[in-house]
Amino acid sequence: MISEYIKQSGESMAEPAGKNLIAVCGKGGTGKTASTAMMARTLYESGRAGKLLLIDADPAMGLLSALGQNVKRTMGQIREKIIKTAQKGEKEEKARLGDMIDYMVFEALTEMDEYALLAMGRTETLGCFCPVNTLLRSAVETLSQSFDTILIDGEAGLEQINRQVVRQLDILLIISDPTSRGIETADLIKKMVMDDNVIKCEKLGLVYNRVRGSEDLLRQSAEKIGVSVTGFIPFDENIAAHDLVGKPITDLPADSPALVAYREIIEGIL
Ligand SMILES: Nc1ncnc2c1ncn2[C@@H]1O[C@H](COP(=O)(O)OP(=O)(O)OP(=O)(O)O)[C@@H](O)[C@H]1O
Ligand SMILES: [Mg+2]
Repeated sequence: MISEYIKQSGESMAEPAGKNLIAVCGKGGTGKTASTAMMARTLYESGRAGKLLLIDADPAMGLLSALGQNVKRTMGQIREKIIKTAQKGEKEEKARLGDMIDYMVFEALTEMDEYALLAMGRTETLGCFCPVNTLLRSAVETLSQSFDTILIDGEAGLEQINRQVVRQLDILLIISDPTSRGIETADLIKKMVMDDNVIKCEKLGLVYNRVRGSEDLLRQSAEKIGVSVTGFIPFDENIAAHDLVGKPITDLPADSPALVAYREIIEGIL
């Protein structure tokens, strides 16, 4: 069923630039969600992203408001249903669970013209349900295969993406603000990838967000931790203004400085 998913708006699109699985991570509050929303807009406006899937992997689900969207069901709710059925369900129902999972994940997918959206949400039932997580992750991985570009808004740590979403990325973008704590977290994330193999990824890049001052100093800090700088995103008054009145970040004016900077980053990636 998942592989039958076909995006309707393909006619006016340029050729997709090949498969890209991109995740965004970084210290809390550095602008991961705003960045994901701006990249999402840039991707679907570029016409080169092909079929685009956005995954909100943060339990707080900030990406939904940054996009001005909602979802009927989260993956967390599906996980609950599976755990309850596995614990209390009839024998027959339990036996069918494996077959039902792909379908349930498909039900959590919200499809729009520009992109499809999946929210991981939070899980209520505490404890380790590794077999359930593995089944769900493999369903998300299968679903991802039907898309050309997948963009994930994550948390600071990468374990949650690896445990619940995907085990392999093409690009991991670490968002940092121009503070030493942001860069320290970027360093920790780099070590998680390079030394601890928390997740596999082809390319690692650092994006400085809310930049107001010298780029040279920031570049030097990135050099010290051995991560290349993918881009500098200026502090953008429009983002603050949109946040204040709860307007989606994706509705920023087309010439908004941060959006313009993300357009360049995406051009470099695609
Ligand atoms: N380039 C920018 N210019 C101005 N304000 C920005 C910029 N990027 C993000 N912000 C603001 O910074 C705050 C944090 O952004 P955001 O919620 O995207 O961070 P986050 O890393 O996703 O946070 P969390 O760790 O809580 O998920 C928000 O108020 C957002 O509007
Ligand atoms: Mg966020």
